[in-house]
Amino acid sequence: MSSEIVVEPAPHDVWLPDGALAAVGRRRIALALPDLSGPAQRIPRAHPDNSAEVTATLRAEVGRATAEHGGAVVDPDDSPDLLLEASSVLDRSSNGRNEDQVSTLDVESRFRFVRDGGRVTVTADTATALLHGWFHVVRLGETAFTGPDADERHAPAFALRVLDHWDNVDVHPVMGQVERGYSGGSIFYADGRVREDLSRVTTYARLLAATGIDRVCINNVNVHAREARLLTDDLPEVARIAAALRPYGVRTHLAVSFAAPMTLGGLATSDPLDDDVRAWWRAAADRVWATIPDFGGFVVKADSEGQPGPFAYGRDHADGANLLAEAVAPHGGVVHWRAFVYDHTQDWRDRTTDRARAAYDHFAPLDGRFAENVIVQVKHGPIDFQTREAISPVLAGMPATRLALELQVTQEYTGQQRHACYLAPWWSENLGFRPWGEGGAAVRDVVAGRGPGASAAVTAAGGGGIAAVSNVGDDRFWTGHPLAQANLYAFGRLAWDPTLDPAAVLDEWISLTFAGPDGAVHPRVREVLHAVLDESWRTYESYTAPLGVGFMVRPGHHYGPDVDGYEYTPWGTYHFADRDGIGVDRTRATGTGFTGQYPAPWRDLYEDRATCPDELLLFFHHVPYSHVLHSGVTVVQHVYDTHFAGVERVRATVAAWESLADLAPGAVPTDVDARVRERLAEQLRSAVEWRDQLNTYFLRKSGVADARGRTIY
Ligand code: GCU
Repeated sequence: MSSEIVVEPAPHDVWLPDGALAAVGRRRIALALPDLSGPAQRIPRAHPDNSAEVTATLRAEVGRATAEHGGAVVDPDDSPDLLLEASSVLDRSSNGRNEDQVSTLDVESRFRFVRDGGRVTVTADTATALLHGWFHVVRLGETAFTGPDADERHAPAFALRVLDHWDNVDVHPVMGQVERGYSGGSIFYADGRVREDLSRVTTYARLLAATGIDRVCINNVNVHAREARLLTDDLPEVARIAAALRPYGVRTHLAVSFAAPMTLGGLATSDPLDDDVRAWWRAAADRVWATIPDFGGFVVKADSEGQPGPFAYGRDHADGANLLAEAVAPHGGVVHWRAFVYDHTQDWRDRTTDRARAAYDHFAPLDGRFAENVIVQVKHGPIDFQTREAISPVLAGMPATRLALELQVTQEYTGQQRHACYLAPWWSENLGFRPWGEGGAAVRDVVAGRGPGASAAVTAAGGGGIAAVSNVGDDRFWTGHPLAQANLYAFGRLAWDPTLDPAAVLDEWISLTFAGPDGAVHPRVREVLHAVLDESWRTYESYTAPLGVGFMVRPGHHYGPDVDGYEYTPWGTYHFADRDGIGVDRTRATGTGFTGQYPAPWRDLYEDRATCPDELLLFFHHVPYSHVLHSGVTVVQHVYDTHFAGVERVRATVAAWESLADLAPGAVPTDVDARVRERLAEQLRSAVEWRDQLNTYFLRKSGVADARGRTIY
């Protein structure tokens, strides 16, 4: 028998291929990093635990780029083109807040960029912030040096920028290694334990640092028995993961089980007000920080979809969250407590229970009761990461609580990385949504701690920031669909600056990812990628569930159409279609009253069919198929038109991508091209299926023919 050695191809370079560093790597670069043991400099003050590692990373990054591209590492006084300087010389304002309000967390990230006669100086208080400055220069490419003179302060809008991994240590019998993962296995775990070789985790941290992400929660929010032990027996293994993330300034968080005092500690209760339970959590937290000094904190899904929580003891979510907050506070840790709480054992016959109401009903009354280091993490919509849904009213209802916006980079409901669906325009809409109407604050202000009526503590802490479920796995392209890398990149960039234009962010991603060895991107490649991705989320919306009604996906795995799949289940995601009409009546007048959870003007705009935006009509109203939309067509005709048009747009996408075939080899790497083609073929097949099932369902229910006589089955 001959034994064959299988050589795994190296993971794809994503947005940091060598070519992306060509412009900076050609330069003469100096590093002015003070001796870390010196008493006068500020790096240790802000962040004592990763400075040495991140400083070493900076040196390595600069060394590698200059060696690859012909530049040089020079002394700071030798007129470098680029000087990276650790120094406390920053001005006294950061991101609109004055110095008193600038938290240690801001200091970890902010930097100053000065260009003077083509020479660039990046200054920052911490090594991690300097690293962000370095990647800023990488991203700018040639223009970093050729632009006009500038003196800019850069600071992230959100102090906490987290990626949540729904990775399981053990392969779960239903959910697999990565829950809602569409990119192969986990980069952290294999064979029921933390991977031996974690070099890919460090590469991941590098990619994240280049976008601005600074924290990763390394395990699934559904904490099963095996994963619960990461908090105790397996802490040394968690420490290895933290060590792999640390060189790029990325800090580790853990999802923990509320029942841990019982399941791991052998106590008879997990009651948050029990003294033994409190002592158990304090000891657990002490051990974590003793092992991992720059550990970030805990993430908790409690009383949600079967996870244990404080309800079992007649306590509420503030009691539960504050229990953990008390344990992590001495270490500067935070608790991300998820607001995704609803009844998943609902009776479909009961029209009074509305899943959309649940998070607000549970959490808004608790405003003001959460400890200062608790962050209530709120999904962007009141249901569940749908392609289109209204903004969660929780985001406008808790001014005295640090709130984080939770997004889903993994495409559970948006094509599962088989469909090209660039989500930044959707996230941008959510971040820019103004719950108090034109002229009022936006969601991005709320989660930065600057919403109306925000308490002083919330503002001082910079709010709760942003979090998202990662789409990364051990797939060669990291994200299954190579173009889904753009979503991960865009999440990081919007987490840093939520006002960025999604098309401009996409352009950055293209410039970096498709940079040839000389740093240039073929203009046709750029053009086609914009054609494929810019409008792809709206295209996806057009051939799937219409007008904000949501779901209509296959139960369980959530891929592909199944209009009635969830209609008679306990999950609370109904559309109520009958022969006369469709949609959920969430009005105060005749429905579930959900509209009343919004402040003015939206509570009234949503309440009234006449002012409810078309794209959310079926989210808020049950209407006849003949109801005429603002667009001038009836609901049923809208369904036909958008579904036919959506499939045609996917066909155009396929054609656009295929038009790249006549470019010289290398403009798009062959393996990327092959994977994209395979995914586009599936997207087209699936879009046709969506179109035909949706159109047929609406025709059969309504009996109304397509005005244009197209084929419906
Ligand atoms: C969705 C998803 C689950 C996940 C849950 C959550 O319901 O389908 O897999 O556990 O969200 O966000 O907790």
